[in-house]
Amino acid sequence: MITRSIRFRMALWYAAMLAGELVLFGAASYIGLERYLQKSLEESLVKQARSIGDVLIVNINQSGEDYVTNEITEHYSPEINGRFIRVTRADGRQIFISGLPKDGTFDPARVPPPQLPVSRAFSHEVEMSDGHELLLHALPYESRDGAHFLIEVAAPYNQIESVLRGLLLTFGLGLPLIVTLAISGGYVLMRRALRPVDEIRQKAAQISSRNLSERLPVVRTGDELERLATDLNRMIERLEESFHQINRFSADASHELRTPLTVLQGELESVARTSSNLPAEIRETIGSALEETHRLTKIVENLLAISRLEAGEARKQLERLDFAELARSTADQMRLLAEEKHIHLDCNGAESVEVEADPARLKQVVVNLLDNAIKYTPESGRVSISVMKQDGRAVLEIADTGIGISRDDLPHIFDRFYRADKARSREMGGTGLGLSIVRSICLAHDGQVKVQSTEGQGSMFHIELPVARDKRN
Ligand SMILES: Nc1ncnc2c1ncn2[C@@H]1O[C@H](COP(=O)(O)OP(=O)(O)OP(=O)(O)O)[C@@H](O)[C@H]1O
Ligand SMILES: [Mg+2]
Repeated sequence: MITRSIRFRMALWYAAMLAGELVLFGAASYIGLERYLQKSLEESLVKQARSIGDVLIVNINQSGEDYVTNEITEHYSPEINGRFIRVTRADGRQIFISGLPKDGTFDPARVPPPQLPVSRAFSHEVEMSDGHELLLHALPYESRDGAHFLIEVAAPYNQIESVLRGLLLTFGLGLPLIVTLAISGGYVLMRRALRPVDEIRQKAAQISSRNLSERLPVVRTGDELERLATDLNRMIERLEESFHQINRFSADASHELRTPLTVLQGELESVARTSSNLPAEIRETIGSALEETHRLTKIVENLLAISRLEAGEARKQLERLDFAELARSTADQMRLLAEEKHIHLDCNGAESVEVEADPARLKQVVVNLLDNAIKYTPESGRVSISVMKQDGRAVLEIADTGIGISRDDLPHIFDRFYRADKARSREMGGTGLGLSIVRSICLAHDGQVKVQSTEGQGSMFHIELPVARDKRN
């Protein structure tokens, strides 16, 4: 369970609120019930005292004390009902006192005697020495013959307490159960409600500048999540459009630059050819202008290549081809370049490795990597190229014994225009675009490119592509 997820937090909040509300409700019910029970108990005591007076004590001079005590025992059965009844004359003589109740909660003999005389009826709590509490109602009563009595009726609080204890127990057991049910129910509901968010998140994590044509899933629920997904999709659409515009712009710009550059180059070359009678200084200037035009042409060509790759043209002409053969023939074409620097160029791997790719683009990958290997390896060094199958993938490795790449530069060499040593690269005619083209082509072919390098010892570039599927399938 992810404790930082919205659904977990919501379920927790929900449970905490519910628990709080239930506790408040429980407390209110407890207090309300306690008051109600106490009031009804008091009312029943008052009623009983009055009825003893009105029915029995009122005519006591005629019926006699014995009759009254018998009647109380018979009609009110205090021992069975757990009640305390005591009738006292004004002079303090006790006419009646109830016996030990059936459940033995209190001892009637220990109830403190009344403070006579009592002029008004009142109720009060009596604390017994054993800790029990009684609610006692005392009613002064005058019989028909004018004699004064005090009728006391009491009941133990534990009758109320046992009801309240039952209520507490119900709450105590019910509350955790309800809260647990609420948490699990809430969690499941939230999970279901937030599932589209997870789907949107997963899809959003996959979308990059290379697959901006893809869209987030929209669940037609009409709620905030549908609107969120729709609005995010509109945003991706606008981003896609901007990307297209930028690409179109750089493709158009490079294309437009090509023609005047070719003309300029041609004119400079023709001047250079007929410049034997010009002063040496001017000849040198023309030479360096020509060199810069070559560089500029290369940058323009590379930029055009990148914008075409970005526009999805990296796999324009897909065909089945032997990667090993392609690497071998490209290496042969570049052998002259290596020989000029007395670099030994090895070509390994006789087995054919079929891939499905755009041949011109794949060749560009090999050319760019070999060009770098030769360019950044000092004279008499060694460059080796091999193609093989590894774990069901087509692998091209180009290793050199060149200058290597520092740890700081390594993460950036695939960035556009990044050159580890600007002065050296520029001197060698580098634009810093070769490896970024390599990476774009590899990614477009569902492949990847990795590099290992030690400064001063050499580098190894490792390309992986999916092998072509078996023809029979
Ligand atoms: N085999 C290598 N050995 C050492 N450094 C390398 C090697 N390959 C690339 N680099 C470093 O990575 C940088 C980027 O390479 P990339 O091919 O993108 O640009 P470049 O070779 O400078 O120019 P371009 O390829 O456009 O002519 C290079 O400038 C160089 O510093
Ligand atoms: Mg290069």
